[in-house]
Amino acid sequence: MESPVDPTSTAAWQKLQAIADSFEPDLRGWFTEPGRAEALTRQAGDLWVDLSKNLVTDEILTALVELAEQVRLPERREAMFSGEHINVTEDRAVLHTALRLPKDALLEVDGQDVVADVHEVLERVYAFADRVRSGDWKGATGKTIETVVNIGIGGSDLGPVMAYEALANYVDGPQCRFISNIDPTDAAESLKGLDPETTLVIVASKTFTTLETLTNARLVRSWLLDGLKEAGYEGDDAVARHFVAVSTALDKVADFGIDPANAFGFWDWVGGRYSVDSAIGTSLVVAIGPEKFDEFLAGFHAMDVHFRTAELRDNVPALMGLLNIWHVNFLGAATHAVLPYSQYLHRFAAYLQQLTMESNGKSVRYDAEPVTTSTGEVFWGEPGTNGQHAFYQLIHQGTQLIPADFIAVANPAHALKDGDTDVHALFMANFFAQTQALAFGKTAEEVRAEGTAEEIVPARVFAGNKPTTSILAPELSPAVLGQLIALYEHITFVQGVVWGIDSFDQWGVELGKQLAKALTPAVAGDREVLDDQDESTKALISRYLQLRS
Ligand code: F6P
Repeated sequence: MESPVDPTSTAAWQKLQAIADSFEPDLRGWFTEPGRAEALTRQAGDLWVDLSKNLVTDEILTALVELAEQVRLPERREAMFSGEHINVTEDRAVLHTALRLPKDALLEVDGQDVVADVHEVLERVYAFADRVRSGDWKGATGKTIETVVNIGIGGSDLGPVMAYEALANYVDGPQCRFISNIDPTDAAESLKGLDPETTLVIVASKTFTTLETLTNARLVRSWLLDGLKEAGYEGDDAVARHFVAVSTALDKVADFGIDPANAFGFWDWVGGRYSVDSAIGTSLVVAIGPEKFDEFLAGFHAMDVHFRTAELRDNVPALMGLLNIWHVNFLGAATHAVLPYSQYLHRFAAYLQQLTMESNGKSVRYDAEPVTTSTGEVFWGEPGTNGQHAFYQLIHQGTQLIPADFIAVANPAHALKDGDTDVHALFMANFFAQTQALAFGKTAEEVRAEGTAEEIVPARVFAGNKPTTSILAPELSPAVLGQLIALYEHITFVQGVVWGIDSFDQWGVELGKQLAKALTPAVAGDREVLDDQDESTKALISRYLQLRS
C-alpha cells in the first residue's frame, strides 16, 4: 500500500500555517458582514449544521478543502467504501458502511457477497427479536422473557447501551440491562431484582476472547442456573433457552455452550467501535423492534451517501473533521467537547470517546512511520444544561481552546410545561445562548456598562472566539440517531486520513491486557511473581494483599 501523504508537506498545510501564524480570530467582526451564517450552514440528512461560529474564514475553509484533496481524502474514502484493506496492520477491509446498505445494493469484497450476508444475519436477528417481543420465545420454565441482559464491553457495550438510552422513548419490548465492567459490582447491581426465569442473556463479543465479557458471561450463567434450580427446574436446556451470542468467532461461542443456532455472526471488517448497527445491536432490536431498527440503519445510510457523494465544501463530516484538524494542529486545541442538549443522549460522549480515541489515538502512521503532527484530541462531554453548571466555566474563561459541538432536537419527546412555560423552549434558549456567549463573549466596556465595580471587571469579561458547531435535528428519532453516529464515524475517518494513520486498529489496548494476565498470580498471592515486579507495583500489590480482609 502506498504511504500516506505527509500533511505537513502539502501546499495547503503551509498556507494554513501562514494564516495561523498571524491569526486573530474575530467572530464579532466576521458576523458584521451579513450572510456568514448562511454561507457556513450545511444540511446532511435531517441534520442542520451551523459551522459559522467556528474560528474559520473563507480563506481557511478553502485551504482546509485543499488539504483534504492533497492528502487524497476522496481516494481514501472510496477505498474504504469499496472494501480495500485500509486497516493495514490487521490486513482487513473496513466496511461498517456495508452494514446499512439496502438489500438491493451490490457489494462484493474478497469474494464475499457482503450485502447478502449482512441481510441474512439481519433477518435472523429480526426473527429472533420478534419471537422474544411477541412472547413466543420462552425461558426454560415456560415463562416469557421480560428482561434482556447484554454482556459485552467496549464496542460490544457502548453502542448498544448508548442507543438504548437514546431511544428509550421507542422501547416497546423487554427492558434491557447492560453488564460490561469486570468489577463484580456491575454484574451484581445489574442482576438485582431480575428473575432468571424471565431473563435472556446476549453475550456480545467480536472476538469471544475478551476477559471481562467471558468472566461476566460465566458469572451470569451460574446465577441463571442456580436461580432456575431454585425454581425447581431440572432440565438441561437452560443455556440454550436463556443465552444467545453475537460474535465473529462462532466456534468459540459453541465452546462456551451456546447453541450456534442461537448465535448471530458478523465479520472481521466491522470494527468493534463501529458495530452497533451489526448484530451487536441485537439488544436494541429486541427493545425497539425491527421496524425502528431499520429506520436507525437508514439514518446511517443517509449520512454515508452524503459523505460519499457531497462535494467537500458541502460535506458535513469532511468539514467537521477538517475544522477539528484546524483547531488541533494549527490553534493548539487538545480536547473537544460534545454537548448534547438532549437528556436521552447522556451516554453519547462516552460512546464517542471509544469511537474517536481508540481510532485516532496513534503516534505511528499506517506505513509504520511516525506521525508528523499531533493526533487524536480528547473527546469528552455531558448533556447540557448539566455541563453548564459544572465545567462550562473553563470553556468560557479558561486558558485552553476547547472546540465544542452542541447538539439539540427541535421536538422533545416530552412536551412538559411549567405553568404556561414550555420547558423545552427554556432548555433550547440555553442551547442557543451558550454558543452565542462562547462566540461573542462580553467586553470590559459591556461589563462596566452593567455597573460592575472596576476591580471585578476583569473577572467578568468573556473573551469570546470560542469555536462551536451547532447541530439541530427535528427530533431524536432512530433515523436521526443513526445519522449522528455515522456523522462522527466519518469525522473520525477524515481526521485519520489527514494524519495518515490506521484508524481501525487498536494495538494500544494490548499491553495492559497482557500485563493484567501476568499479574493475576501476584494478586492472588504468588510471592515469586510478586517479587519479579517493579518496586511501585510490588508495594501496591503487597498493600492490597494486606488490606484485603
Ligand atoms: O478494548 C479493545 C477492544 O478490542 C475494543 O476495540 C472492542 O470494542 C472491545 O475490546 C471488546 O472486544 P470484543 O467485542 O471482541 O469482546
